[in-house]
Amino acid sequence: MEKISVNIKCEYRNNPMGIDNKNPMFSWTIQSDIRGLEQTSFELFLAENKEELLNRENLIWYLNCKSKEVRAVYQGDKLCSRKTYYWKVSITLNNGTVAESPVGYFEMAFLEKDCWKAKWINFLQEKIKKQVPELDEEGNARPVELEIMEMEPVYQARKSFHVKKSVNKARIYATAHGVYRLILDNVKVGDYELSPEHTQYENQLLYQVYDVTKELTVGEHVIGAIVAHGWYAGRIGFAGDNCQYGDKLSLLMQMEIEYADGTIEVVCSDENFMVAKSPYIYADLFVGEKYDARQELEGFFLPGYDESELYHALSGEEAFDKLCAHYGSYIKVVEKIKPRCYFEDENGDFILDFGQTIAGKVKAQIKAERNTEIRFEHSEIIGEDRKFIQNIRDAYKNQTDIYICKGNEVETYEPIFTYHGFRYVKVHGLKKVNPEDFTACVIASDIKKSGEFSCSDSRLNQLQKNIFRSQQSNMISIPTDCPQREKAGWTGDVQIFAATACYNMDMEDFFRRWLKDVRFEQLEDGQVPIIVPFLDGYKRVFEGIYSSAGWSDVAVILPWILYQYYGDIQILKDNFEMMHRWVQYIRETAENENPEELKNCTNERTEYLKYIWNTNFHFGDWLTPSVSINTETGVVDMMQSAYRTMEIVPTLFYIYSTDLMKKISEILGYHNQKAYYENLCKKVKQAFNYEFVDEKGDIKSDLQGIYVLSLYVDVLTGDRKVKAEERLLELIHKNEDKLDTGFLSVPFIMDVLTNMNRLDVAYRLLFNESCPSWLYEVKMGATSIWESWQAILPNKECSFLSMNHYAFGCIGDWLYRNIAGIKMLEPGYSKIRFSPNFDHGIAYASGAYESVLGMVKCEWKKTKTEIHMEVTVPVNAKAEVLLQEINIVERSNLIHLLNNEKGVNRVTEIDHGLFIEIGSGSFSFDVKVEN
Ligand code: BGC
Repeated sequence: MEKISVNIKCEYRNNPMGIDNKNPMFSWTIQSDIRGLEQTSFELFLAENKEELLNRENLIWYLNCKSKEVRAVYQGDKLCSRKTYYWKVSITLNNGTVAESPVGYFEMAFLEKDCWKAKWINFLQEKIKKQVPELDEEGNARPVELEIMEMEPVYQARKSFHVKKSVNKARIYATAHGVYRLILDNVKVGDYELSPEHTQYENQLLYQVYDVTKELTVGEHVIGAIVAHGWYAGRIGFAGDNCQYGDKLSLLMQMEIEYADGTIEVVCSDENFMVAKSPYIYADLFVGEKYDARQELEGFFLPGYDESELYHALSGEEAFDKLCAHYGSYIKVVEKIKPRCYFEDENGDFILDFGQTIAGKVKAQIKAERNTEIRFEHSEIIGEDRKFIQNIRDAYKNQTDIYICKGNEVETYEPIFTYHGFRYVKVHGLKKVNPEDFTACVIASDIKKSGEFSCSDSRLNQLQKNIFRSQQSNMISIPTDCPQREKAGWTGDVQIFAATACYNMDMEDFFRRWLKDVRFEQLEDGQVPIIVPFLDGYKRVFEGIYSSAGWSDVAVILPWILYQYYGDIQILKDNFEMMHRWVQYIRETAENENPEELKNCTNERTEYLKYIWNTNFHFGDWLTPSVSINTETGVVDMMQSAYRTMEIVPTLFYIYSTDLMKKISEILGYHNQKAYYENLCKKVKQAFNYEFVDEKGDIKSDLQGIYVLSLYVDVLTGDRKVKAEERLLELIHKNEDKLDTGFLSVPFIMDVLTNMNRLDVAYRLLFNESCPSWLYEVKMGATSIWESWQAILPNKECSFLSMNHYAFGCIGDWLYRNIAGIKMLEPGYSKIRFSPNFDHGIAYASGAYESVLGMVKCEWKKTKTEIHMEVTVPVNAKAEVLLQEINIVERSNLIHLLNNEKGVNRVTEIDHGLFIEIGSGSFSFDVKVEN
């Protein structure tokens, strides 16, 4: 049946609560199997209640647009705090029909600061002692035993209140300095984890909004909270300094109860919160938790608890002006995994194997005597002799949770203030284990999966799974590098992986929030940091290094990628000033600074050097294998790749970012800027050629990655380009079709080879199973993407690196584009090309991508004599099907058939193939080909 339906979202969510954007964004997708469907206009209605909305009376806002836009930003009168609004769209389509969306609603949070009646409260007077681990000569902080750590206890508080009449609506607005858990009558409020999450707290601290209407029956209730150190005061980042945002934990909570008779009652955090020590002896995001069940205060979070031993909370002085209602996604438990197997080691400890590397925590059902201390140690690897090894060994990276039993029949323990990166868990303290009693709870920001990929090669399917897993493990409030050692927003990693990330998951809202933090972290002089939020601990380790080529360029590259995927120009507008200031910083640095040895060179060279970015430290093509890995021993010396490539890489990124700025300025209609960047880009390219390419056409740093980057940013022309292409092929060949690309060049190598028309070489790299290669990791049993290609050596020896770094997973989008064959030709998938690479060792593939316009699909199968292909194009999009490098049998017959198909706009014959233009809908093609 031919049906049309419309799905709607407000602020990227379905019927959201807690919006404080004064101009919320509405969006919709249209689903239909009618071919060639396009929206010609839309009407948007917004009212205070459903009836008025449906009757189209007393509308608060009405918009009527002749446009294909599937988004609209609210431009009506001021919306009110706490209020719920109802809205819908009515879409007119090019076939004359009108499709109505269902009614949606959204509820506002606090739009004015004076909505807050609650006080910030502290549970303790004393400040947390600042601890700054000492660093060794290599910049690492040595591991510290749990027993000798000076950890601080965690406090909890309660307040009882009376619900007098029947409740119409009840909300809690809450946040903390630290991480908090809200408990209402002994039950956790909401399903979020680690709220208020990690943002750049100096400028934005999220508060969460909870619906507790159902819970508030007439009678006595208790609202309580536990506040732990979290990102605010815990031992976070690489060096593990604590108190990086502040040294006092505090809570802010406001519960608003609207009774059925319209009266309002507000229960606030204030000095009447009664405080006690919690059973959490300590709780730290990296170190882990220690929970002493014997110290539980029974009934603490229930009415009737005797408060005589408790003390009053103190009112705090914390600010309200950085508060903003939670947006972006929420951290949740997104999956539960049972152990795949377990075994006992020689010490009588049990090692649980959850079968895959994840970020999360273990929930356990425990039967043991009172006072039994059970330790859960987490690691991503296991030695060959099945010996438990901690792969992360720096200070405060213990990843160990401890539970002390109270001696009940069965006790359940699930950490709530920490998460770890692991696959294996060593359980110490139990005499026997039943694997059924343990569950790994996978923690992640609950971002919707948007892509599916599978093909006839199971190794590539595993690779995609690994990429997804590493993405999931590292999209936790902010995009992190790894879930165990650093949990830090390394900007380079994001830049490298963003395109793949956007294929796999609907990243727009998540990255939009993080980009706001990036803007907050930009320095006056335009520098964008290497990590966002940029923690003091890192500033200490990196001593004055703030930005780095290819890392800080995230400021330009990420908004550009988001614009490509989601087609919303707003992301470019919001970030334009930041990008512009960043590139200005590069320009000024290049122009004004030169290394000592270049200060007295010829006038000609001095002129060119103004466009060469050659000062400061840069990570360069980080982890380039031939430079940083000792192939014999597998020992990784990370800094070597920086030293070897940092002379040339910055200027390549200078070119890349200026070129993007030219494109972005053009899209935004900033003509002067466009001309400025076009000119600047030209000059930097000339300077690069002058400085780094010799008469023979050789590039100064003779590495795969440098050729890849030079070709990708299109700095070479004519013979020099041909020469570079030849040299790249030669280097790949010499390296036995293995990768020798670092962080910054690996995202581009496959595309560069594809553009060179050397798919044969690209596929040789892809299918290679020797180290370094993507399938080497798969062959070695990886279930995630590793930080270094050689994290596990061919002889199975393990290194102490991260096993869960998404950066090298950036091949993911190439697989979608080339094997599944789904390519975006115009931003937001308004124009798509389906052109899979047939005949490169893959017999069938299938890809699906939920775009902002709706589902995009391509499925194909090729035998020696036939290609079967099925594609789906969403409403409002157009597509091309490009069948190439095949010899079609009965071509004219096929063309005749296609020309008569509804929804096929044009069929064009090309050499060894066919080019078919189609509108929206699902199509299938059967093509007979010559063997
Ligand atoms: C992180 C990376 C990061 C790098 C900077 C590492 O410690 O884990 O992923 O980009 O440092 O070079």
